Amino acid sequence: MNKPDYHIFVCASFRGTEAKGKCIKKESLRLIPYLEEELADRGLNAMVSSTGCLKLCEDGPVMIIYPQGYWYREVNSEEVVDEILDALEKGHAAESHLLA
Ligand code: FES
Repeated sequence: MNKPDYHIFVCASFRGTEAKGKCIKKESLRLIPYLEEELADRGLNAMVSSTGCLKLCEDGPVMIIYPQGYWYREVNSEEVVDEILDALEKGHAAESHLLA
């Protein structure tokens, strides 16, 4: 496997061995299949990983894109994923969902 151009982290709320945080309750994991499908459709070379709680639960679901270092809040719908990926393809952040 080639090194991906982007590594996208989606919060899966784990604290220790249990998913105790809020992102998973806000259905963060439900969006992963859609995210992976969109990445493939757009031909983006990206890897998606789920993470433990990022300690930003009130802003969740949280998603991070590296190497850009974009931290996103309230990634809670396919429309938001589209907005974020549209911006990524254009080479900038989706400002309306960036964490301050
Ligand atoms: S569960 Fe996602 S930031 Fe805490």
